[in-house]
Amino acid sequence: MAVVGIVPAAGSGERLGASGPKAFVACAGRPLIDWSLEVLAAVCDRVVVAVPPGYEDGDDRVVGGRHRSQSVRAALEAAPEATVAVVHDAARPFLTVALVERCVAQVRAGWDGAVAAAPMTDTVKEAGPDGRVLRTLDRSTLWAIQTPQVFAADALRQALAVPDRVLAGATDDASLVEAAGGSVRVVEAPPENVKVTWPADLRAAEAVLRARAAV
Ligand code: CTP
Ligand code: MG
Repeated sequence: MAVVGIVPAAGSGERLGASGPKAFVACAGRPLIDWSLEVLAAVCDRVVVAVPPGYEDGDDRVVGGRHRSQSVRAALEAAPEATVAVVHDAARPFLTVALVERCVAQVRAGWDGAVAAAPMTDTVKEAGPDGRVLRTLDRSTLWAIQTPQVFAADALRQALAVPDRVLAGATDDASLVEAAGGSVRVVEAPPENVKVTWPADLRAAEAVLRARAAV
């Protein structure tokens, strides 16, 4: 059984607004992506990274696509030996070995996918284009979905074998596996497994990672 890490890192990081792509921005003394790569290297047989054009030097790097799931597909295509795929965004530096292992265990137990998720803490409402609230959802059944997302690799390959316009509309890979009829479950993640999206997220991540290194 080959467990392969698949890291989409080909985004430009528009909302972060740094001078280069987000995955390679410095965070607590190293490129943001390195925090995730270190953890994935400890649990995966191999890690393939989808990078922006110009960043493909080095082993196991492929050029990503225009949309995130296209980047995931490009990286997975470079890992034909994978039987389990651990997809993790370079933008989430708080990955832990324990969280990856809990997701992998669920896939080994027979699920097509197991995804890190946080129970909703805010009340969630649905609103129309004019802002009018249409309904309040039952928060107790709602989860905010993150990465890692771990899949039986063949289920993910099959889910990604769809036209580019379908991939362009997907905000995560699990939704594609669900659409293909696959079984996906949530795995509760530690509260700190946040994504770096805005400049304030990067500053917060830096503070936490430096404090952790100082312990
Ligand atoms: N990603 C990717 N290929 C793309 C778009 C995104 O590999 N075409 C990756 C990003 O590098 C990131 C992850 O998907 O690790 C999550 O995406 P997001 O946080 O949205 O990052 P960016 O797309 O880079 O940021 P923004 O949307 O602000 O431009
Ligand atoms: Mg994006």
